[in-house]
Amino acid sequence: MLKIDDLRLNYTRSSLEIEEVYKNPIQQLEAWFSEAIAQNIIEPNAMVLSTVDRFHKPHSRVVLAKAISNDGIQFFTNYTSHKAQDLDSNQNACVTFFYPDLERQIRIEGTVGKISREESEKYFHSRPKSSQIGAHVSDQSKVIHSREILEQKQALLESQFEGKVIPLPDFWGGYLLKPTYFEFWQGRTSRLHDRIAYTLSENGWKIERLSP
Ligand SMILES: Cc1cc2nc3c(=O)[nH]c(=O)nc-3n(C[C@H](O)[C@H](O)[C@H](O)COP(=O)(O)O)c2cc1C
Repeated sequence: MLKIDDLRLNYTRSSLEIEEVYKNPIQQLEAWFSEAIAQNIIEPNAMVLSTVDRFHKPHSRVVLAKAISNDGIQFFTNYTSHKAQDLDSNQNACVTFFYPDLERQIRIEGTVGKISREESEKYFHSRPKSSQIGAHVSDQSKVIHSREILEQKQALLESQFEGKVIPLPDFWGGYLLKPTYFEFWQGRTSRLHDRIAYTLSENGWKIERLSP
């Protein structure tokens, strides 16, 4: 058996005080995100997205955040994928960013809806052509019998779309997670970590410290 029970780190890099966080959690997210970029964290926009299916079973996977604004957090995917099916039946979802090098975690909960086709089109056409073709090729989350099937479809579409604008597939586009809850976690010594939570209420964001 692999011995992992003695793997542990003591977190010493930073701290988080309720007095020093932004009143708007999106600003706090942007601040931490900017620090992650400045520290050359690999894929700082990678977040674990958790959804719940119609049988109340949770499912998690990584997706890339593609925009952050006061409206929420955008990501893009296939609208027939498992995650999309989960979101069709249950709009509640959460995302988690983990920056081990910064000893930080950010948890965001909210509801998810599709963005407009125009917005999806704008993002789709900003992607490299190979990624646009990739979106057409992949019947995401379906079983396929070999990688060759994908590569053959890719080659076919590459020649079909040669010199042409690649259209946004009907089955592909963006979602917006509208946050109702944020938690910023900063690792501290002796497991007495800092946790600052924001809960959306009628009077705006309520900010509280949580016990680690
Ligand atoms: C670093 C990383 C980034 C990813 N980004 C995306 C993404 O932006 N959109 C997406 O649909 N899948 C992305 N994936 C793949 C998903 O994790 C997942 O395999 C896929 O979306 C199918 O998930 P589902 O079957 O739950 O729908 C990414 C995976 C990794 C590891």
